[in-house]
Amino acid sequence: MKPRHPQARRWPRHVPFAALCLVFLASLPGVQAAQAPARPGKAAIAAAHPLAVAAGEEVLAAGGNAFDAAVAVSAALAVVEPYASGLGGGGFWLLHVADGQRDVFIDGREVAPGAATATMYLDARGEVIKGASISGPLAAGIPGEPAALAHIAEHYGRLPLARSLAPAIRLAGEGIPVHERLQMGLRFRRPAMEASPALLEVFYPGGKPPAAGSLLRQPDLATTLHRLGREGFDGFYRGPTAAALVEGVRAAGGIWSLEDLAGYRVLEREPVRGDYRGLRLTSAPLPSAGGIGLVNMLNILAGYRLEQLEPAVRKHLLIEAMRRAYRDRSLYLGDPAFSRPPVEQLLSPFYAAGQRVSIRLDRATPSEVLAPGAAGGGTGSDTTHFSILDAEGNRVAGTLSINTWYGAAFMPPGTGVLLNNEMDDFTIKPGVANAYELLGAAANNIAPGKRMLSSMTPSFLESERGVAILGTPGGSRIITMVLLATLDWADGGDAHSMVALRRFHHQFHPDVVEYEVGAFSEAEVAALEALGHRLELGTRGYGNMNVVTWDYATGKVDAASDPRSAGEAQVY
Ligand code: DON
Repeated sequence: MKPRHPQARRWPRHVPFAALCLVFLASLPGVQAAQAPARPGKAAIAAAHPLAVAAGEEVLAAGGNAFDAAVAVSAALAVVEPYASGLGGGGFWLLHVADGQRDVFIDGREVAPGAATATMYLDARGEVIKGASISGPLAAGIPGEPAALAHIAEHYGRLPLARSLAPAIRLAGEGIPVHERLQMGLRFRRPAMEASPALLEVFYPGGKPPAAGSLLRQPDLATTLHRLGREGFDGFYRGPTAAALVEGVRAAGGIWSLEDLAGYRVLEREPVRGDYRGLRLTSAPLPSAGGIGLVNMLNILAGYRLEQLEPAVRKHLLIEAMRRAYRDRSLYLGDPAFSRPPVEQLLSPFYAAGQRVSIRLDRATPSEVLAPGAAGGGTGSDTTHFSILDAEGNRVAGTLSINTWYGAAFMPPGTGVLLNNEMDDFTIKPGVANAYELLGAAANNIAPGKRMLSSMTPSFLESERGVAILGTPGGSRIITMVLLATLDWADGGDAHSMVALRRFHHQFHPDVVEYEVGAFSEAEVAALEALGHRLELGTRGYGNMNVVTWDYATGKVDAASDPRSAGEAQVY
């Protein structure tokens, strides 16, 4: 992709002095013409599956706003991408309420059950019990998505929850066409699924893997969604659904209690904010590491004139910024209700200036030279992100997850709910890597009621040019994907280039730059290796980004879905 640097362009000689003065005046605060227009007048949805986009469209057409559409899209994704997110998992919904220009972050992250302990995945000798935090009900945190959907509908939506859930209930009851990703995940997780007869019954009808294009029905999930729609929070966290969840979990060795479910609380949080070259970033606060990492990397990069540097040097600096932000992620971050991560320091431009001092232009910094810490990888699209703008200017960036493919690969009988394996996002044991090669520190140790650290980074970018709503799945790579897309938008890119651009990633540990085909030219590979970077070409692309943009000057609303996957983007 060709880099664009509008900021770096030179004025042609023939531009008269008076015209330059006008341009200067127009750039002063208060004189600037490109203020946010009152409303876009158009809506847009970008999500990982066309049926989820259609669910959102149906709810918008019924008089719903972006928040109702977010509920509809989230619930539909639970049905059409059961391997990625759902009622048995959690997520983050970043909302912008046009009336009052308010941003709020809805934290529907899972929490550790009341009986959880810091050593629950270790045997008597203190060794990690293989797979215990990945498969089966012991791997599952108490879900947050149902509570978040009820909360969003009640406090921000215009339609009853039951109306916004209607498309998902229909899809679960009538069936969805079996698609490639669904089949792929089933093959991958089949061994773990053997321990969950209720799950096999749904996903291996008649004992066989479902054929492509055949209809997959999820009647129990339809009932569970219906109950949630009718009774809100209580319809999932109390009564028959809660009883079936707890019974199923405990019968298979899990530790959930009815109190854990009834005690779950959605939290509204202040988003993380940052500024980069006239761009205002609004993103995910703890328990996500996303917003903090993103702002820190941008603060580091703001000290360079990136547009004037050779592409290889520019990429070298990005890698060094990634390295430093991911080091701090593993050392310091965790649920702020249980420790006091130094958030203010990590967000400070002065801190970033200190980090810059340790960056050499002529050499990669070996990670081991920076004090200990570790982070981890993670691929794929076994999590989901959608972006929504409505005609009034309300926005939602939602990233939802049950963690790895098909979560814990466990379904409590009679619920249709696939449980998450998000407990694996905690520090299972210091020094031992988890599913994403994640190591962590005490700040992310397991404790009852605690939220596990996340990388999910639903974000808004705003400048005089307009707004971008973005995010992606991809484990710890999420934060660097959102960074690259942010820099692309800052350089004049659009929704389509942001989702398509070739990605590269460094996460401090392992000390390797992973990159997609096309992310580096041959000359850049040679230059980066000469600086001392170890490069690893990924065998396939990663991420599944969905972006919606609104250009203030032209009024254009645009949307794009990642070409690596099978999502859809629509403007209405
Ligand atoms: O919260 C997190 O950071 C992870 N559970 C997200 C997992 C994910 O994105 C998987 N997709 N590739």
